Amino acid sequence: MTDIPSPANPPERLLCGPGPCNVSPAALAALQKPLLGHMDPDFADILLEVVELQRIAYQASGGVVLPLQATGTSGMECGLAHLLEPGDTAIVGVNGFFGRRIVEIANRLGANVVEVPADWGEHVGNEALLEKLDEHPEARLVCVVHAETSTGVQHPLAELGAALRSRDVLLLADCVTSLGGIELRFDDWGIDFAYSCSQKCVGAPPGLSPVAVSDRALERIAARTHPVPYAIDLSLLQRYWVDRPLTYHHTTPVLNIYALHEALREVAVEGLEARWARHMDAGRYLQDEVLSRGLELLAEPEYQLPQLTAVRVPEGVDGKAVAGRLLREHGIEIGGGLAGAPPMWRIGLMGVNADRAVADRVLEALDAVLAQEPAFAASA
Ligand SMILES: Cc1ncc(COP(=O)(O)O)c(C=O)c1O
Repeated sequence: MTDIPSPANPPERLLCGPGPCNVSPAALAALQKPLLGHMDPDFADILLEVVELQRIAYQASGGVVLPLQATGTSGMECGLAHLLEPGDTAIVGVNGFFGRRIVEIANRLGANVVEVPADWGEHVGNEALLEKLDEHPEARLVCVVHAETSTGVQHPLAELGAALRSRDVLLLADCVTSLGGIELRFDDWGIDFAYSCSQKCVGAPPGLSPVAVSDRALERIAARTHPVPYAIDLSLLQRYWVDRPLTYHHTTPVLNIYALHEALREVAVEGLEARWARHMDAGRYLQDEVLSRGLELLAEPEYQLPQLTAVRVPEGVDGKAVAGRLLREHGIEIGGGLAGAPPMWRIGLMGVNADRAVADRVLEALDAVLAQEPAFAASA
């Protein structure tokens, strides 16, 4: 018989990578509240509150708003599966790992995918997207990543939404790293499908994907000729999350939903503008400090996200070894580059970690580790 392991005993970490970030004490405590059944009438009230809080976070008043019981990738798949049918044309901005993932999922759905590429660290110009749309007037969907976590680049989403307003095409935005961290206005910007995650700027544990769908998108979905996969069917999920009496669809992760409820409540209590300003302040502080050390950032400065900073690994420095030492010796997690990316460190200041004092902790640890890297110490 194999030995039975002891109870898991994970160490404390400061989570300053691309996500998850640390969770507020109240959101963590919510996981310890009494477990209710997923059909309990008291839980049904909590579900409705989550939906209302999520509407505030997205600034979304109509359509369907609810969290999927899966991560950001499933939010992406859900949006594409609802808004595309085989043979439909989708125009996709690709300037990093997650734009590429949109392309891959849309291809699997049998769509005709038209990519509008930009280099790592660059933004995808709205002019280029609109030009492609002129070349493909049959396109049903334009997809962009609002906050490309693989590079730290922000998409000018408000401007894109305004430019698409007069056109007969829907706008899908990946808001996995933007919701709760930077300005995002679902209604005002004319977004038709947005998906996010629970574990980044929203500040809850991973496992849920808040989505928002416009009335225009719902009309398109109602006219589909092929049904969508059952597990992510928004019309069925709406009957559980919003319609009352609630109808069983699947057994929801009750404790995670309490934590999301608390995290979204904290977003609302802080206020969106204040929260966006806090993320901006912490991010710009970190970025100035990084630059003052002679390090370089990957993103074009004008499109640099505050909440995710991609730092180029200097010549001769082993980026993976540095990140490993930050974790092992300082208990700080930062990210590395994703497949296909140039060598980089990705530092996230999200949720409760969007704070100058947290930035200072990361910087002090990085200074200590880099001081022992001969290639960097010699150049500094
Ligand atoms: C921009 C973006 N899109 C999609 C995803 C996928 O989200 P998840 O890992 O929660 O499935 C991520 C994850 O980091 C992301 O940063």
